[in-house]
Amino acid sequence: MSETTKPKSMDEIMALCKRRGFIYPASEIYGGINGFWDYGPLGAQLKKNLRDAWWEDVVLIPCRGAHGPDGQPVSIVPLDTCIIQNPKVWVASGHVGGFTDPMSTCRQCKKLFRADHVADALQEAPWVQALVVELGAPEWRMDAALGAAPAASLERWARKEGRKRAPGAWLVRSLAAEGADPAAITSGAPGTWGALLHWVATGTALGGSFVAACPNCGGDLTEPRQFNLMFHSYTGAVFDEENKVWLRPETAQGIFTNFRNVVDTTRVRVPFGIAQTGKAFRNEVTPRNFTFRSREFEQMEIEFFCHPDDARAWYEFWRKERLAWWQGIGLAGENLRLREHERDELAHYARDGAGTSDIEYRFPFTAPGFGELEGIAHRSDYDLRQHQEHSGQRLDYFDHERGEIGPNGQRKGERYLPHVIEPSAGLDRGVLALLCEAFTVDPARPSGIVMRFHPRVAPIKAAVFPLVNKDGLPEIATKLAADLTRRFARLGGTIECDAKQSIGKRDARMDEAGCPFCFTVDGDTLKDQSVTVRYRDTGAQERLAIEKVEEFLGERLGEGR
Ligand code: GAP
Repeated sequence: MSETTKPKSMDEIMALCKRRGFIYPASEIYGGINGFWDYGPLGAQLKKNLRDAWWEDVVLIPCRGAHGPDGQPVSIVPLDTCIIQNPKVWVASGHVGGFTDPMSTCRQCKKLFRADHVADALQEAPWVQALVVELGAPEWRMDAALGAAPAASLERWARKEGRKRAPGAWLVRSLAAEGADPAAITSGAPGTWGALLHWVATGTALGGSFVAACPNCGGDLTEPRQFNLMFHSYTGAVFDEENKVWLRPETAQGIFTNFRNVVDTTRVRVPFGIAQTGKAFRNEVTPRNFTFRSREFEQMEIEFFCHPDDARAWYEFWRKERLAWWQGIGLAGENLRLREHERDELAHYARDGAGTSDIEYRFPFTAPGFGELEGIAHRSDYDLRQHQEHSGQRLDYFDHERGEIGPNGQRKGERYLPHVIEPSAGLDRGVLALLCEAFTVDPARPSGIVMRFHPRVAPIKAAVFPLVNKDGLPEIATKLAADLTRRFARLGGTIECDAKQSIGKRDARMDEAGCPFCFTVDGDTLKDQSVTVRYRDTGAQERLAIEKVEEFLGERLGEGR
């Protein structure tokens, strides 16, 4: 097999996702809806497999039996809380007051932009790229000095490319106006790229650091305004402020509000974690990069409660543990990294704590940079303290195993608000990273593409093909597939039995679906009860006794892991 080392193309990955039924645009027959995606048959199983792998390694066998920094097995219990909660939850958590993005509107084309994304979007905007070419500056940054921009070049750009690609720009509109004097209009061009773009769009000098140029039409953008990202709805029949509710923007708060319940109704003792997976909703101003930034997505969150003195040790533990987990399901290699936040990136409650780190993946659309997959944050006692204050309910914890030793030789105990280490992962981003990592171009294969999923998450675990659709071969294949299904479907995937088209075409379909093993039943099977097994990753083939197929698959699919 001869794989190419060309950078992976996001367009090709998205085309494969559509063609093979991994991911479709939501409501596609009505033109779609920005920021919403549906998972097709293969995608739904892939997503479930990733969620199940997390559940198994976090809830059922926490950290695969590893011990925490206290030398004890890690203790985690699950929870499943509502998307809609009492609105006071979101006031206490700070989301009503502070879960906002700065947003700007183009005064010309009326498009909305996240103000902190405008600089990146300008870098890719066709009108800016045309201007860069016109001014003969192939490499540039917003803050790079430009020298004096020649008036003739600016005028040439505005009259040709600008008219096509930046009709909203002040420079374009001014030069197009009746009786315009080009020399007077082009004379004020300033000397950095950021200032030039601002001037082209607005005709004014750059005041602060915000470049008010619309990436879409070159028009002038309004000053950034804060925009709350939570979706809202109403309970009951009266749609007024009193009945207004929010769709949760994170699953975490349902865990904090149930902390007391879990402590009182189970046998957990600090340190322990509560985990849940579920939908979260954010009215992102600019959803983009396929499912990476969606408006409806799923999270997999752990809130791990510990004594404040132990928070740093648990933070270090979870950083390593979560990185190893992503590596273990197929993201090993240089596309994955752990990055500690700089101090100025930290949330206010994290500034004096153990810190915050991101596990990041190098997606094709972020390369050579990285995008966040999971955050691991020391949230201190911020959330429990907020909910304690707002609800008036005590959320502190009485720890019998701490405190001074009393005259009776027993510890007196200690009452405290636990600190929290929060490993918070995005399920949809995880699926996207698996898709990008698995996608491999290999011109030597019939389909030219192979999806190299880790067998644990692969949505089809194996395929069985009768070489020809006669001579009793289909019956043998059907029985083998049924036997394999009975044993292996519970590992999270179907066993396909396919008798249609040539073997090459069937292999191609399975390569694109990421099926790790294909078994072919042929004429020799009738003579010696053997089948051919084809390995997806190498394309190598070998003969195997039909009675050994179950054992072969059991070992390779991690049965009994
Ligand atoms: N409780 C903490 C919390 O929600 P976050 O960094 O805002 O932290 C956690 O979100 C994870 O959720 C992110 O690392 C990312 O994987 C995922 N996520 C956040 N916003 C997302 C969006 N708009 N679309 C898809 N995934 C998103």
